[in-house]
Amino acid sequence: MRGPIALHDTTSADHDTIELLLDLAFGSGRRGKTTYRLREANSPVPGLSLVTRDKGVDVSGTISFWPLAIGDKRSPALLLGPLAVHPDRQGLGIGLSLMQEGLARARAQGHGLVLLVGDEPYYAKVGFAKLPEGLISLPGPVDPARFLYLELTPGALRGVQGLAQAPGLAALAVPHAAQSQQQRCEA
Ligand SMILES: CC(C)(COP(=O)(O)OP(=O)(O)OC[C@H]1O[C@@H](n2cnc3c(N)ncnc32)[C@H](O)[C@@H]1OP(=O)(O)O)[C@@H](O)C(=O)NCCC(=O)NCCS
Repeated sequence: MRGPIALHDTTSADHDTIELLLDLAFGSGRRGKTTYRLREANSPVPGLSLVTRDKGVDVSGTISFWPLAIGDKRSPALLLGPLAVHPDRQGLGIGLSLMQEGLARARAQGHGLVLLVGDEPYYAKVGFAKLPEGLISLPGPVDPARFLYLELTPGALRGVQGLAQAPGLAALAVPHAAQSQQQRCEA
């Protein structure tokens, strides 16, 4: 029987080891993925970045969540990922433990909606489902079969639509829109 898996808050000292683990899990081309655009000019949500450790491989698993603002209403959501487990430690329940704890913490922090791009059969284990097509777009191509959501608060997806962006980038668009409106008023 599997024992309980110890989860730890990620520290800044884990950064380089996590980068190596992500290269191992996803390959070095991972930074070209659309989800990486959402992590530019953005920072992981404090308290939701977790690792598992073991002596053999140091960091054996990692997860983080990133804030998003969606559409004109700048509806808040979280982006789950990257989630990765060291190839030598896969199939031991580490990935599911990281997700369950991360999602429980996200719920406790008051977040209502989580998005991710990944394998639906795996993420369905914690309740993720395919996002209705055309509702939310990302700043790059995404396979609709892999674009998934989970409501931490029932109904959290209702009324959410448009382009998902890092909150800072979405905020930049607002003063611009406000300025254009002001210019129109002055004209
Ligand atoms: C996907 C990943 C995070 C899973 O972590 P893990 O610790 O190995 O998974 P767990 O031990 O928690 O869960 C294992 C179960 O999930 C299933 N599973 C694992 N990866 C899966 C996938 N991509 N699709 C469907 N099921 C999957 C296993 O078959 C196993 O099922 P079982 O319990 O019925 O036997 C890990 O394999 C990994 O890092 N892979 C490479 C990077 C990656 O693909 N990350 C996810 C982004 S899509």
